[in-house]
Amino acid sequence: MPIPMRGPALLWIVLLLFKIIQKSSLSMKPQWSRIFIGENVTLLCRNSPSNISFKWTHNGTVSPVTTSSWNIVNASFEDSGEYTCQHKNFRESKTVYLEVFSDWLLLQASAEAIEGKPLLLRCHGWKDRNVYKVTYYKNGQALKYWYENHNISIPSVTTQDSGTYHCSGILWKLPYTSEPLNITVIKAPQSKYYQLQYFIPLLVVILFAADTWLFISTQRQKDKKLLNPHPKPRPQKG
Ligand SMILES: *[C@@H]1O[C@H](CO)[C@@H](O)[C@H](O)[C@H]1NC(C)=O
Ligand SMILES: *[C@@H]1O[C@H](CO)[C@@H](O)[C@H](O)[C@H]1NC(C)=O
Ligand SMILES: *[C@@H]1O[C@H](CO)[C@@H](O)[C@H](O)[C@H]1NC(C)=O
Ligand SMILES: *[C@@H]1O[C@H](CO)[C@@H](O)[C@H](O)[C@H]1NC(C)=O
Ligand SMILES: *[C@@H]1O[C@H](CO)[C@@H](O)[C@H](O)[C@H]1NC(C)=O
Ligand SMILES: *[C@@H]1O[C@H](CO)[C@@H](O)[C@H](O)[C@H]1NC(C)=O
Repeated sequence: MPIPMRGPALLWIVLLLFKIIQKSSLSMKPQWSRIFIGENVTLLCRNSPSNISFKWTHNGTVSPVTTSSWNIVNASFEDSGEYTCQHKNFRESKTVYLEVFSDWLLLQASAEAIEGKPLLLRCHGWKDRNVYKVTYYKNGQALKYWYENHNISIPSVTTQDSGTYHCSGILWKLPYTSEPLNITVIKAPQSKYYQLQYFIPLLVVILFAADTWLFISTQRQKDKKLLNPHPKPRPQKG
């Protein structure tokens, strides 16, 4: 391989492999995928230090937003739905769902319930008002009660935590009950590229090492040839 091609070619291969394997990662700040109408949420697309060249979709339609984050201010019902993001050097992210509600109480859960990962539940009052005498329910049975509002934090969820949750509490001296939320705990996603993700960097290192070794050894042979030119046949005296 000609010398000037080596670096760029390898870099190109690495970038291509990353594009095939690495997904863009889409998260929400704050983390709740169910919010009240009028609230704000920021969608963040990570993986890259740059903040341009992002492609966003909402309900399958490409958005004019091209920055690494998408600020949803004063959310309306139309902001509900499915979101994806993609940086040009990576695959499209998983789909993230946002639901906008108009209610007194809203049971919020941190985005996805993945086996072994933490899960946070929150009984959220309209206009951020304090909620008193909060009870969390699972499958219709009271789970936790607090006079002052608290979040439920499960450090490591198991499939046993799947179920229908709701909460009730007192807001402006009146009792309210939230809509139910079905939580389904899923196994950590194992994409078909999952193993490759760890194998590819190793492969790249091996390729690079092999390439470098080849380069050095051919260079050495060249040098040897220069230092030790083939001995000229001596003129034979007859
Ligand atoms: C949403 O963001 C806007 C602009 O930054 C701010 O004026 C407003 O108070 C925020 N709303 C909430 C509910 O935090
Ligand atoms: C993106 O970068 C530009 C310039 O580098 C900066 O002005 C802008 O505020 C950044 N946007 C975000 C969302 O970080
Ligand atoms: C939020 O949007 C609603 C309509 O959806 C509008 O009536 C209201 O004035 C907006 N509030 C702010 C602070 O922009
Ligand atoms: C996106 O889909 C959701 C759920 O079907 C819907 O409530 C929302 O209005 C849609 N928004 C747009 C802009 O299409
Ligand atoms: C619940 O968790 C959220 C996010 O971590 C936090 O902002 C809020 O203060 C917590 N609420 C209570 C009542 O602990
Ligand atoms: C939630 O789960 C219950 C019980 O499995 C089911 O009857 C109900 O239809 C589900 N609701 C939604 C919105 O998926």
